[in-house]
Amino acid sequence: MKILVTGGLGFIGSHTVVELQNEGYEVIIVDNLSNTSLSVLDGIQNITGKVPAFEKLDLREKEKVQEFFKRHHDISGVIHFAASKAVGESVENPLLYYENNINALVYVLQELQQKQEANFIFSSSCTVYGQAETMPITENASIQTAMSPYGNTKQIGEEIITDTAKVTNINAILLRYFNPIGAHPSTEIGELPIGVPQNLVPFITQTGFGLRKELAVYGDDYPTPDGTAVRDYIHVVDLAKAHVIALQRLLNKKNTAKVETFNLGTGTGSSVLEVIHSFEKVSGKKLPYKIVGRREGDITSAYANTDKANDVLGWKAQSTLEEAMASAWKWEQKIRS
Ligand code: WQD
Repeated sequence: MKILVTGGLGFIGSHTVVELQNEGYEVIIVDNLSNTSLSVLDGIQNITGKVPAFEKLDLREKEKVQEFFKRHHDISGVIHFAASKAVGESVENPLLYYENNINALVYVLQELQQKQEANFIFSSSCTVYGQAETMPITENASIQTAMSPYGNTKQIGEEIITDTAKVTNINAILLRYFNPIGAHPSTEIGELPIGVPQNLVPFITQTGFGLRKELAVYGDDYPTPDGTAVRDYIHVVDLAKAHVIALQRLLNKKNTAKVETFNLGTGTGSSVLEVIHSFEKVSGKKLPYKIVGRREGDITSAYANTDKANDVLGWKAQSTLEEAMASAWKWEQKIRS
């Protein structure tokens, strides 16, 4: 079976391609290379021994998307990662995010709605919940007004998919990620943040390696046990495996609704200080950091209720925070060597 992975050379996309190939799927990747590099293909091949088909394609170009699907009739499923994902950048440049994250999605769905059967996995985010009232967060938690254009594109994306699935042959699963971290244990693929990392873990590993002077901890006055904000950090390989299981659910027609939603987290919340301590433990290094003011738009706490993913999807995260952090540190050292 041929599976299309859009944004398949990205952080989560590349790890998902590896798991798809491990399960015997034929994979074709499209990526516009705006936030990654072709060398990721080598990394994938070094792990699985198989080179996935690849086509450089910008999904914002409607005619190019139509032409691609004309040449590839035999696609059984699509996992859609292609999107811009930097919260801060989305505030500065909203139209870039609405064009890239919405238009591209619409053009792909317009092709899928013409097929007899279409299985669609959508990369969504826990950011749709904003600051949820109760922890851990279930899939029924209310969707709050987005705190950023990035978050809004995920909410709008989910609504577009839901409206479209109602009146077409498209079956979809929305996967709401919590905080993906870490790298493949082979250190052949991992996160490649461009410029100064916005996310906590790559900033920590770059600081640990000496590329950054110190980590700024954004606030220690939150109503949490140690005052720093709490998130659910999930190993990217666990996340990748969930995508394959979700796809198989649709391919095997096990879904019980046209659109299903799953939170993908570990179910455990970790504070910023706990993440710092886990780095220090796995690296044996003291991490230089300073407490500064809160970051605009940050929430206090978010971690997943994983019952639905465990019981209905039949998936559970396996790696601990420490294991994920160790893989992130190993990767940082590898790419700097
Ligand atoms: C985690 C915690 C920060 C950097 C965002 C998006 C989410 C997903 C992941 C794309 C927070 C603190 C961070 C730093 C810090 N993005 N922090 N110093 O904001 O939870 O989620 O990225 O898929 O959709 O919303 O992740 O890693 O930026 O921050 O103290 O230098 O670390 O305040 O509490 P976040 P993050």
